[in-house]
Amino acid sequence: MSVTVRVPAKVNVQLAVGAARPDGFHDLANVFLAVGLYDEVTVTPADELRVTCEGPDAAQVPLDGTNLAARAAVALAERRGVEPAVHIHIAKDIPVAGGMAGGSADGAGALLACNTLWGAGASRAELLAICADLGSDVPFSLVGGAALGVGRGERLTALEVGGTFHWVFAMAERGLSTPAVFREFDRLAEGRAIPEPVASPDLIDALAKGDPDALAAAVSNDLQPAALSLFPELADTLAVGRGAGALTALVSGSGPTTAFLARDPESASKIAEALEASGTCRTVRTAAAPAPGATVLPA
Ligand code: C5P
Repeated sequence: MSVTVRVPAKVNVQLAVGAARPDGFHDLANVFLAVGLYDEVTVTPADELRVTCEGPDAAQVPLDGTNLAARAAVALAERRGVEPAVHIHIAKDIPVAGGMAGGSADGAGALLACNTLWGAGASRAELLAICADLGSDVPFSLVGGAALGVGRGERLTALEVGGTFHWVFAMAERGLSTPAVFREFDRLAEGRAIPEPVASPDLIDALAKGDPDALAAAVSNDLQPAALSLFPELADTLAVGRGAGALTALVSGSGPTTAFLARDPESASKIAEALEASGTCRTVRTAAAPAPGATVLPA
C-alpha cells in the first residue's frame, strides 16, 4: 500500500523583510499564494528510510537525511514512537532552489503522506507545528490557497482570493541559496533603519477581489534587490516579461525564479513565448493561482 500527496509551489506576492533577529532569522510579512505547479510525494512501507526523486531537476535534490521529506517522516515517527521505515519517492515538477518552496512542498507532502500511511492521527494543529519546525515556508505548503505569514513566515492567517490569477514563471540557469540572499539583504541594509514588516491592505484587498491590475500595483519583494545583486542577469528576464505585456514582474521569494502576472491565459501564453525565445532563462511555465494545499490523491 502507498499514499501519494500532491503539493503546490508558491509565489510571494508580498515579502516585507524586517531587520535580522538575534536568532539570525528575519521577521516577515509574507503573503503567500499557492500556484498550480506541483510535486507529488509517494510513501510506501520499506525496511528503512529511503528517498528517491524523478524529474528534470532530480539530480540537484539531496537524497539523504537532510531532505525535508526525510526530516518530516523522522519528525512524525519520533512523535509516535515508531520507525520511519518508508520509501519516499518525489516526482518533482517544482524548480529546485528556485524560491518557489519546492523543498518545503516535499516536507509538507511527506508529513501528510506518512500521517495517512501510518494512521498516525496527527491533528491539523500538530501537523502545522511539525511543519513550522521543518522550515519557515513548510506550513504554507500544507495549507495552500493564500495566506499571510508572520514571524519567520510560519504563523499563518488564511486570506480570501476572489478570482483566478494567471502567472508565468521563468526558471533560471542556476539556483540561489535562501540564506545567501538573506545575508545579502543584511549587507545591503547595513547602516539603514529597517522598518517593521507590515502586510499591505491594498494587496490583501486585490487578492480578495481577484483583481489582477490592483494586485500588480501592490506586489513587492524586499529580497529582490538582494537576489538581483547576486544574480544581475535576472534583470534581463524581468525586462523581457514586462516588454511582453506582464502586468508586473518580480523575483519569486528569494529567487532566482522570476514571476510574471498576466491579465488572462492568452496574455500568459504570449509572455511565456517571449521568455522562451529570449534565451534569458532555462525553462518557462504557466500556472494559475490559487492552488489547494497538500492533498492526498485517491489510491
Ligand atoms: O526556515 P528555513 O529553514 O526555510 O530558512 C532558511 C534560511 O533562510 C534560514 O536559515 C535563514 O538564513 C533564512 N531566513 C531568514 N528569515 C526568515 C526565513 C528564512 O533569515 N524569516
